[in-house]
Amino acid sequence: MIDLHLHLDGSLPPELFFKLAAMEGVGLPAGDVDGLLPYLTAPRDCKSLNEFLEKFALPVSCLQSEETLFEAARGLAKELGREGLVYAEVRFAPQLHRQKGLTQRQAIQAVIRGLEKGREGTSLKTGLILCCMRGRDNREENLETAAQAAALLGAGVCGLDLAGAEALYPTRDFEELFCKARKENIPFTIHAGEADGPDSIRAALSFGARRIGHGVRVTEDKALLEEVIRKQVTLEMCVTSNLQTKAVREGREHPALWLLRQGAAVTINTDDMTVCKTTISEELKWLRSMGMTREEERKLWENALKGAFLPEEEKEALGREVRLRL
Ligand code: ADE
Ligand code: ZN
Repeated sequence: MIDLHLHLDGSLPPELFFKLAAMEGVGLPAGDVDGLLPYLTAPRDCKSLNEFLEKFALPVSCLQSEETLFEAARGLAKELGREGLVYAEVRFAPQLHRQKGLTQRQAIQAVIRGLEKGREGTSLKTGLILCCMRGRDNREENLETAAQAAALLGAGVCGLDLAGAEALYPTRDFEELFCKARKENIPFTIHAGEADGPDSIRAALSFGARRIGHGVRVTEDKALLEEVIRKQVTLEMCVTSNLQTKAVREGREHPALWLLRQGAAVTINTDDMTVCKTTISEELKWLRSMGMTREEERKLWENALKGAFLPEEEKEALGREVRLRL
């Protein structure tokens, strides 16, 4: 199994919060996992991506030092290895971890070290995607994230992303940032077509995005869908997350299987295992219950391999590993 789209802060094992909060000197609102879960997971009646994103405040407050970022990345990689993933591209936004004075570079290096440590003794390989954030006053921080991605590409970092409130800060406003990323040859994906419509996806493609985070609203525009299929743009789809953020109203309306059958390069991912209370196995189980065949499942992994931000020779080795397990 492969997961190309999961956020570190939204995917931490809940038990780990007691250790992280103690290390960080942060008070938790509950003393046991059951009590803590409502603060870490999206509510059943979550209304929008904006409400969903509120669940990141607590994890981010517990990740403000190299030690906690290391522990978090280690804990997540260990969990992914235990679950049987062979490859995961974990992502996080280094600029959110500077409240106590860390530089972006220090935050990134701590996460790289944690991922390396956590996957020891497992079959898991990892990459790290750096998220820039949608916002009004963080142009410099985003440019710094892109500069760090350029500096550390191939040395623990594999790509760049844009995350955050898509409906409030449209994709078209980030042209300068991704123009720079393209000049530096940094592979990038952009969250688009999740809380905003086809224009957001179109803007991301015009910047040169090779992959789209979510992209569910591609179905609203026939010409755009044809382009996405023709160019085999990787769609990083995350079903449970889409239901929680109301990008999609109901499970049976989710377009993942339909898009796969139309020939789009669909992949299946978790987004935020803890916020969404899911795992990659759960996401697959749901797709199978909706009628996904073994052949279609194989296609998902082929799409994930093709879309991975990895050099070709590493993709080939990973492909052999994946096929062994099918
Ligand atoms: N950060 C974490 N999850 C996200 C999502 N689904 N969309 C945008 N930003 C996010
Ligand atoms: Zn995401």
